[in-house]
Amino acid sequence: MRTLEQLQSQYNKGGAELARGMKFGGGRGRNPAMKGKPKNLKNTVGRLMSYVKRYKLRLIVVLFCMLFTTVSSLIGGYMMAPIINRITEEVTGEAQEMSKIEAIADKAIDWFASTDLVSALIDKGRVAAISVYVFAALVILGTVYLLSATSSYLQARIMISVSQGSVERIRNDLFEKLQRLPVRYFDSNPTGEIMSRFTNDIDNIDQMLNNSLTSVVSGVVSLLGTFVFMITTNIWLTLITLVFVPVFFKGGALIGKRSSKFYSAQQAAIGAVNGYIEEGVTGQKVIKVFNHEDTAIGEFRLLNEDLRDKQFSAQFWGGVMGPIMHNISLISYGVTIGVGGALIAIGKLTTGALTVFAGYSKQFSMPINQLSAQVSTIFAALAGAERVFKMMDEAPEAPDTLEASEDEIEGHVILEDVTFGYIPEKIVLKNISLYAKPGQKIAFVGSTGAGKTTVTNLLNRFYDINSGEITIDGRPLASYKRDFLRKNIAMVLQDTHLFTGTVMENIRYGRLDATDDEVIAAAKVASAHSFIMRLENGYGTVLEGDGANLSQGQRQLLNIARAALSKAPILVLDEATSSVDTRTERHIERGMDRLMKNRTTFVIAHRLSTVRNANAIMVLEKGEIIERGSHDDLLELKGRYYELYTGLKELD
Ligand SMILES: Nc1ncnc2c1ncn2[C@@H]1O[C@H](COP(=O)(O)OP(=O)(O)O)[C@@H](O)[C@H]1O
Ligand SMILES: [Mg+2]
Repeated sequence: MRTLEQLQSQYNKGGAELARGMKFGGGRGRNPAMKGKPKNLKNTVGRLMSYVKRYKLRLIVVLFCMLFTTVSSLIGGYMMAPIINRITEEVTGEAQEMSKIEAIADKAIDWFASTDLVSALIDKGRVAAISVYVFAALVILGTVYLLSATSSYLQARIMISVSQGSVERIRNDLFEKLQRLPVRYFDSNPTGEIMSRFTNDIDNIDQMLNNSLTSVVSGVVSLLGTFVFMITTNIWLTLITLVFVPVFFKGGALIGKRSSKFYSAQQAAIGAVNGYIEEGVTGQKVIKVFNHEDTAIGEFRLLNEDLRDKQFSAQFWGGVMGPIMHNISLISYGVTIGVGGALIAIGKLTTGALTVFAGYSKQFSMPINQLSAQVSTIFAALAGAERVFKMMDEAPEAPDTLEASEDEIEGHVILEDVTFGYIPEKIVLKNISLYAKPGQKIAFVGSTGAGKTTVTNLLNRFYDINSGEITIDGRPLASYKRDFLRKNIAMVLQDTHLFTGTVMENIRYGRLDATDDEVIAAAKVASAHSFIMRLENGYGTVLEGDGANLSQGQRQLLNIARAALSKAPILVLDEATSSVDTRTERHIERGMDRLMKNRTTFVIAHRLSTVRNANAIMVLEKGEIIERGSHDDLLELKGRYYELYTGLKELD
């Protein structure tokens, strides 16, 4: 069983680094919390903006709504001051000296109370003046809040349409990029990693566009608005509130830093647990075959325990932030009330103003909290956006050098002194030279890892060669457009893949304009017809999960049928029948002969009976052709091929 450290480093490299960083307090140089920060902020924001920019008009409306909502709810809140003042005056019989802004609000209510509208609504003669005043104030208040709610509804709706539209385009662009990336990219990036661009990273961007941006803007607006109202109400009380601001900031930042650190650790631990579960599901058969259940359970417990700890810390620090900030704001609330009471006593403040102010001072800390909480969300989203854009910037398959007309290909293939390595340091193929005339059949044999598949990867330019030359009909490979080239080379890859869809659709993948009859004819060539007819819905049977309900050999037959549908003049069969039994293979042979007729064919097979009739057989060993010739020549040579054929020496 592996240790926690080993598991973390294998299932989540970032997570392990984080865990180590935390144990040693995370030195400044490699602060793990910094991992989530975008490196090129300006560039990332700019590119994100380019997606959002096309909704300019909607954004302006959103901004307007946001301003309206915030300001109107501030005004609504302020209406309480004159109402309380009037009531206090009514009770005590003493008029209080109001601040300028209170006086304006008071006058506005008075004016409204005198309008015909209010007269129409209540019978002024039968109620006290104060009641008319309060009634008028409540109507104004209700109207303001109704408008505020409406605009906040509009703002949310429009903003969602903006963010969903932008995210939709980002997803489209990214998937388009995915289709243009070279095979090499998929070799060197784990599938899970690529998937998380589409899931986590884009989700985070979505979150940011939906919530964070609006809450930051409305947070700032309400901070400024509250401040304006506070300062016009009473300068001394405003000063008291301001004294507490650095405390909020400092406290918020401190807790925020902690919680975001534990939050990233939690994310890493979730990643490791998820990765382990995924493997536990996809690899279940192998786990059972080798009796690894207990080990798997043990390892999972380690990872899960770690996740619990990280989650505890993350949620503790995340949850502790709100209450602490709230308590601090209550201290400032108390001080404000105390000082405010003294100010009322000396006639420098009205009761109503203090009530409203106390609310403001409480409210003042809220946007600050909100802002500091949003900062980490925004940074996480920007870091995600940066990774998304990085993938969009990956070099696609090298651009095609266009040449004039694409004539029909005859299928004359020549490899001359071809050398290739997946990575420059490790050469896989050395000085490969061979030719295939149109209609010829060339076979590759040799032990596993000799480089047979690699040769075929070069023909359709999955990879470009390091040196030497490959020509088709005398033209260098690089002078063909890739699309054209791949259309002219039908391939049965060593790794079969079937897509979710019907059997018919899966075979038609070989040539999209093929008719049903052509598909069925191709299936017959590949000897797939009879087993397809035995499936539940025949050609209409839906295959799921890479054809999980088929045998490996049946999957291969479908892949051959696909290639049989293609009219390409060049055909590559890489271990196309390796999982098909010998009887079926013999059965296919006639169909295959028909398939290969008039096509240049490259065939790789470990069952040597199937390559016997090739025009030339290449024996590959460690990336080099060590023997070549016809079956009879090679047997006579009594070399490697002879050994392989007679079974004198086992394949290693
Ligand atoms: N995508 C890849 N990236 C790096 N090395 C690879 C890749 N595919 C194959 N190789 C290496 O190239 C060599 C030849 O592999 P391959 O052509 O698949 O052999 P064969 O088809 O003869 O069994 C092997 O040593 C293998 O490790
Ligand atoms: Mg192979």
